[in-house]
Amino acid sequence: MTNTYYREHEPVMPSFDRPAGRPFDPSPELIALRGERPVARLAVPEGAPGVWLVTGYDLVRKVLADPRFSSRYETQYHPLVHTHMPPAPVGDLTGMDPPAHTRIRKLLTGKFTVRRMNQLTERATEITRDRLDEMEKAGPPADLVPVFAQPVPAQMICELLGVPYGERDAFTEAAHLASGGDDFEASAAAFARVSEYLRDLALAKRADPTDDLLSDLAGSDLTDDELGGVAAFLLGAGLETTANMLGLGTFALLRNPAQLAALREDPGLVNGAVEELLRYLSIANTGLRGVLEDVELGGAPLKAGDTVVISLDVANRDPAKFPGPDALDLRRSATGHLAFGHGVHQCLGQQLARVEMRVAFPALLARFPGLRLAVPPEEVPLRNPIPLYGVRSLPVTW
Ligand code: HEM
Repeated sequence: MTNTYYREHEPVMPSFDRPAGRPFDPSPELIALRGERPVARLAVPEGAPGVWLVTGYDLVRKVLADPRFSSRYETQYHPLVHTHMPPAPVGDLTGMDPPAHTRIRKLLTGKFTVRRMNQLTERATEITRDRLDEMEKAGPPADLVPVFAQPVPAQMICELLGVPYGERDAFTEAAHLASGGDDFEASAAAFARVSEYLRDLALAKRADPTDDLLSDLAGSDLTDDELGGVAAFLLGAGLETTANMLGLGTFALLRNPAQLAALREDPGLVNGAVEELLRYLSIANTGLRGVLEDVELGGAPLKAGDTVVISLDVANRDPAKFPGPDALDLRRSATGHLAFGHGVHQCLGQQLARVEMRVAFPALLARFPGLRLAVPPEEVPLRNPIPLYGVRSLPVTW
């Protein structure tokens, strides 16, 4: 790689906070760094390994595609927690490298088939309709997050995995607690409960398979622990991500009325609109990679043992790739966005997430022609800026 970008400089520690009053925009300090030095050395305590922040679109993409940058958590030093990360739990694909990663990923790729995704489109339509009925009963006003944004993906994951109908409510309640709670101990306990439940369910399907992904996996060479671990990981990966896109996405549409009107008037816009919302919001915004060998990145001298922090949200606002990047423009081509990552770890559930959003956004707008915020925009409670962003609740009326 050529020495195009990097100049030696004082290490920096930018704020990851979003700008006050602009809930959809990434940290201004990160944006400024992208313009000045898209690979920047971060300030870390004495004795810590080198940590580099990568914000430019091309460079983020390069890191994600290069096997010299490791996904194994134990190779990564967390610059905010000031320690190396513990190894990934069994079944967590995002914390593995090839070939261990390839073995499980291959097994799963074959299970996210077009046939299964098509089946899920029909179910997404029914589940969305049911949740909109519930929303109508609950309000106006209503909090869109617990009545709509969370249950749609939760029900879809139940469909995918094959959680029996009678057990879905208890299961999804525990799953939300496990993935989104502020109370760490309660979340950890709920996660343990959900993991155990999924492990038992998977083992039961080994003996008595049904037509779902968990049964398919149960028929593979995964060990019992891997089977339970992969199931719990899929739940974690597919639940809060899509829920945040539905919640924050609705907020963004309500704050951009011309865009909302365009989508309402032209349902044919929906596929592109979903890609643009993914780019613009980039809810899964920050990732780490461990540097396995000395490598030059944009001219910066990275050493084996260093860590790279990648900003997907800032890369997705790079004007070199997306002209006028800070505007939500549902008619633009957002192709090539990095909201689902890139390379061998690129989101496995992206087609499922797309199915859910392509069904859910138009159905919500069609059901509630007068949909609007029930509180001033600055009162909408937001999640922490990293690593997964969204709204905690979204009070709406109609
Ligand atoms: C809009 C919603 C979603 C977003 C924004 C999103 C984003 C991402 C991103 C950025 C990665 C890459 C992580 C990395 O490189 O370390 C990823 C990986 C993954 N996602 Fe998603 N995701 C979404 C929905 C889903 C759904 C619905 C599922 C499935 C149920 C899913 C399953 C996975 C899995 C299994 C991986 C790991 C792939 C691997 O490491 O090989 N995701 N996702």
